[in-house]
Amino acid sequence: MNDQLIIFDTTLRDGEQAPGIALSPDDKVAIATQLARLRVDVIEAGFAAASPGDFTAVSRIAAEVQGPVIATLARTHPDDIDRAADALKAAEKKRIHVFISTSPIHMSQMLRMSPAEVLKSVEEGVKRAKRYVDDVEFSPQDATRSDPDFIIEVCRLAVACGATTINIPDTVGFAMPQDFVELLTRVYDDVRAGNEDVIISTHCHDDLGLAVANSLAAIHAGARQIESAINGIGERAGNTSTEEVIMAVTTRADHFNVEIGADTTQIFETSRLVSTLTGYPIQYNKAVVGRNAFTHESGIHQHGVLRNRETYEIMDPAAVGRTSVIVLGKHSGRAAFLHALTKMEIVLEDADFQRSFERFKELADRKGEISEEGLRAIVGEETGALSEELRFEAIYVSGGSHEIPVATVTLSRNGEEVTATANGDGMINATFVALQDAYGIPAELLDYRVSPITSGADAMAEVNVLIKVGSATYSGRGVSTDVVEGSARAIVSAMNKAAFDRGVTESVQDSAT
Ligand code: KIV
Ligand code: ZN
Repeated sequence: MNDQLIIFDTTLRDGEQAPGIALSPDDKVAIATQLARLRVDVIEAGFAAASPGDFTAVSRIAAEVQGPVIATLARTHPDDIDRAADALKAAEKKRIHVFISTSPIHMSQMLRMSPAEVLKSVEEGVKRAKRYVDDVEFSPQDATRSDPDFIIEVCRLAVACGATTINIPDTVGFAMPQDFVELLTRVYDDVRAGNEDVIISTHCHDDLGLAVANSLAAIHAGARQIESAINGIGERAGNTSTEEVIMAVTTRADHFNVEIGADTTQIFETSRLVSTLTGYPIQYNKAVVGRNAFTHESGIHQHGVLRNRETYEIMDPAAVGRTSVIVLGKHSGRAAFLHALTKMEIVLEDADFQRSFERFKELADRKGEISEEGLRAIVGEETGALSEELRFEAIYVSGGSHEIPVATVTLSRNGEEVTATANGDGMINATFVALQDAYGIPAELLDYRVSPITSGADAMAEVNVLIKVGSATYSGRGVSTDVVEGSARAIVSAMNKAAFDRGVTESVQDSAT
């Protein structure tokens, strides 16, 4: 049977140490509750001695969150350890995580302690923690810049004093995977010798972008606990990201041969909650939880994914609580366009499909991404067209003399163009008058509405018009990123209906050319 890999989540302790994050005890309970749903094995709920707020949060999580082991961090100081034990009192399963620095720079500059003093402090701290709880973790801080012989000595002492987990932190994200494996192998062989129940753990920071890679490499050296934070938040460049570790180990189970107990379908919700409560956005292309992690843009990729998801997805988005997204944009082809229409339950005749697709490409070129609402509007405009219509080609509006707007519209049918120019008391009015000239049909504008479809500087708008020709009324709809062009399109679609009704489409073109 495969070994269990323990997922130790430190979102609420190391993650919360990221600049600008200040979670309230209520926020922390909400995140811890969600981490329990995700079924991580250990939740490091905070650093109980750091502040009264941290103490309250750890105590509340200990009392209110069931399932995972609840851990809190403590220096080797007696006061820290007493406070940690006090905060954990109500927990069903509890752990005190004791740490002290072991690198020359930390010992001389921060602790101002000699190696011998550090050893004494480790002995006192671990023994004190052991008086309160069975489950004691020990970390030699800045391990990857420490003398490996000294780490072995310190860790063996911690185990002799009762530590059940030995965690090797790459505190400053300095390690390379190969070196880290070598260090962990030494720790595994020398510290566990005669103490086979001791769990070896890693805790990596991402200063060189290697936190996840180093953590995963450590599994091959025998590590059976990984410390990590949701969305990879934490000091400086952050910690190993919990969701990436869970999905790497799940997706490449063939490579790691370890079991995990996490419910992967809770990943996306956990990530979203942490992002919302911390105010830390998730980068678009972040693995597993980024907006684009399951989004397909290029026509070739979309075509492949629509045929078989696995052509471009190594993980099932449903496994992390998400769905694939086909972005309809300028790179999309007919297959993706048809797929989107089918999803929206829109069925088009060939000619309508062709016109709608061409219009979609034209708009996507200008705008980038086209939303579902945008698509509906395009299809609405194009399917409202009549087969013998005059098609809108272009509009040019200028200030004219004395700043009176002048509109020049160009329409076409079967490759022949109709152009008309008119002025008016506004750009829309000038457009309407020019179009009446082009059709040779006098009309009255009864209603005119513009509704935004998307927001932003390049927003798309839908224009709806109602015109009166004689005693009949005709509606029309137009879509564009430009309101004047959208208006012209809407008027053209209404005028086409009027022209068709009158049976004058042919003669209109003749008289106007
Ligand atoms: O990065 C680090 O060394 C830590 C320890 C306290 C485990 O966060
Ligand atoms: Zn850390």
